[in-house]
Order: sequence, then C-alpha cells, then structure tokens
Amino acid sequence: MPFSLVRADITKLTVDAIVNAANTSLLGGGGVDGAIHRAAGAELLEECRLLGGCETGQAKATKGYRLNCKHIIHTVGPIWHGGENGEREQLQSCYRNSLVLAESLGCTSIAFPLISAGVYGYPKAEAIAIAEDEARKFLEDHDMDITLVIFDKDSFEISAQRYEDIRQYIDDAYAKLRDDSDRRPLMGAAVMNDEAPAKSKKKSIFSRRKSPEAAGSVPCEIAEEASAEDYFSMRDESFSQSLLRLIDERGMTDVEAYKRANIDRKLFSKIRSDVHYKPKKQTAVAFAVALKLNIRETEELLSKAGYALSNSLDFDLIIRYHIAHGIYDIFEINEALFKFDQTLLGQN
Ligand code: APR
Repeated sequence: MPFSLVRADITKLTVDAIVNAANTSLLGGGGVDGAIHRAAGAELLEECRLLGGCETGQAKATKGYRLNCKHIIHTVGPIWHGGENGEREQLQSCYRNSLVLAESLGCTSIAFPLISAGVYGYPKAEAIAIAEDEARKFLEDHDMDITLVIFDKDSFEISAQRYEDIRQYIDDAYAKLRDDSDRRPLMGAAVMNDEAPAKSKKKSIFSRRKSPEAAGSVPCEIAEEASAEDYFSMRDESFSQSLLRLIDERGMTDVEAYKRANIDRKLFSKIRSDVHYKPKKQTAVAFAVALKLNIRETEELLSKAGYALSNSLDFDLIIRYHIAHGIYDIFEINEALFKFDQTLLGQN
C-alpha cells in the first residue's frame, strides 16, 4: 500500500530502508535511535563514525546490518521550541530528504518513525500531519511503499471532536440495530400480513414458482422462455468494468484514481486487465472514496465485488460516517480506521 500506518517496533520491519530519528552526532542515543543501534549491532556505529555527523533536516544513509533492511537512513529532526523557530520546515525537510535519498538508493519501501515526536517534543498530531503531507506529495509522482510507524498507542491522536463524532455515529447505529431487532416480531407480523416490500417492477426472466402442485416441476427458477441474451443480461457489469466506467464518467485519469485510492500501479493494472478481478473489500471501498461516490453508489460498486456496506461493523460504519460527511481524504479516513483498530483503505 503506497501509504500505511502501522503500530510496530520499527526494528522488526522488513523494508528496503528504515529511517532513524537520530541526533546531529549520529553516534546513537535513546528512543528509536537507541533501538535501531541495538538491533543493528556495533558495526552500525562504526560506519556512523565515518559520516561526520548530520545537520538538522538532512539525511545520511548507512547499511542495515542486522536489521531486515538494506539501508538505514539517519535524519535529525528539530527540537520543539514552540514552533516559531522553523521547526515545521526542518521536520518537512527530514521526510523530504529521506525520501529523495531512499529513491536514489533504489528503495521501493521505507518505514519512518514519528520523527521529533519523542524526546524532541514535537506535538504528535502535527508531527503526523507533516509526515502524511510529505508522503502524499512524494507519492503524487513517485511509486514507493511508505509506512509511518506508530510505536505506542498514545503517540497517535486524531482530534477529540472527530473521535467523539465517529464514536457517537457508531453507537447510534448499534442502538438502531438493537431497536430494530426488538421490533422484529412486529416486522414479522407485517410480512405475514402480506405487507412485504413491493416487488421490483423490473421484468425478471426468473419465472415465479408455478401453481403449488406444479411447484416441484420447476426446481430451477429460470423460465423456459429465457433466451441466451437474457442469461447474459443477468450478468451485471463486473467490478473492473464498473470502476473503469466510473473513472471515465468522472473525467479522472487512471493514475488520479489509483493514487487517490492509495493503490499502487501494479494492482491497478491487474484490476484493469482482468475483467473478473475480485478486489479485497478495503480496495473496493478505497476506490469508492477516490471516486467520491455517495452511499448508494458505494454500495452498488461494492456489490460488483460481492461486498455490502453493513450497519453493523465498525469498519463499514466509519466508512459510512465519512461518506455521509463528504470526507473523501483517504489519509484522513485511514487515520480514523487506524484509531479504531480497523483495516486501512488501500490494498493489503
Ligand atoms: N520503533 C518505532 N518507533 C519508536 C521506537 C521503535 N522501536 N522507539 C521509539 N519510537 C518512537 C517514539 O515513540 C516517538 O514517537 O519514535 C518517535 C521518535 O521518538 P525519539 O526516538 O525520542 O526521537 P526524537 O523525538 O526525534 O528525538 C531524537 O532522541 O533518541 C534520541 O539520539 C536521539 O537525540 C535524539 C533524540
């Protein structure tokens, strides 16, 4: 997935480059710096000694040694002094220079800790926003899997108001489900009294069951008069066909669509070339968000891949919340999904 958030110990990840939140000496320290040096082994320090330090906002690379990565990119974040001393620009440079250096080393995947958000005291929510913005800008015209590693739960905050709104939305949906199930016997009675939902007016080639005595004679619901094209008319557009049609209808390019959906080029070309491709639910929803579909359109697109948008799963309710509020920023939606321990949108 081009951009993902994970809760992990960065020293345990397998990526091409792991980024270290170092200090200007590059000779190790506490926090993630200490963890990386301990896990990489003494040879890392030997190589760092040869680098002659690193300025704030800059990045330098070493080998990965005992870590599951080819390179360690050491960058030095700003110490937070209240935000009036260029801290923002320096932190932006850390991400930008690390990404450019990773690309020059041929990396296709990179993992960042939350630079400066520990000992250096950068406010966590702003540190996350800067990391996401720099990743988003880089991914507009580069292909790389960028992972932002959140080491501990309290390092990750979304705005309290947003968290409360989503929590309330989920609780209301569950309350409604409970009310409906309490009423179900009445609902059953309604159905018994033939108040079932009106039948669809659409001509169906499925024959209604014949008279009771003949019921057994029509085990298959397909009427004899169904013709070959009728069979094929049953086959809706596939997910892939619907997706490509919707991209065209919205005047988007394929690149815009898959970048906005946090999907990489390889997966998109698979979907594009295989008319029967069945995406994972988080991929299908990611495209609904990228295309800014409303709830009904989203449900329609998901149904082509065999999925529904329920009213009983946190993941689905968080998606419903954002679409209902017109929030189609996949980074923002993924922050909420991450906060509620749900699968992120994009490919997995
Ligand atoms: N994996 C991933 N993230 C981690 C890990 C780990 N093993 N250990 C700590 N973190 C997180 C912290 O929770 C924090 O969110 O890394 C983020 C950055 O915290 P620090 O490591 O304290 O780095 P920083 O705030 O940039 O301060 C750098 O601290 O360790 C010293 O030598 C370092 O002087 C430098 C200063």
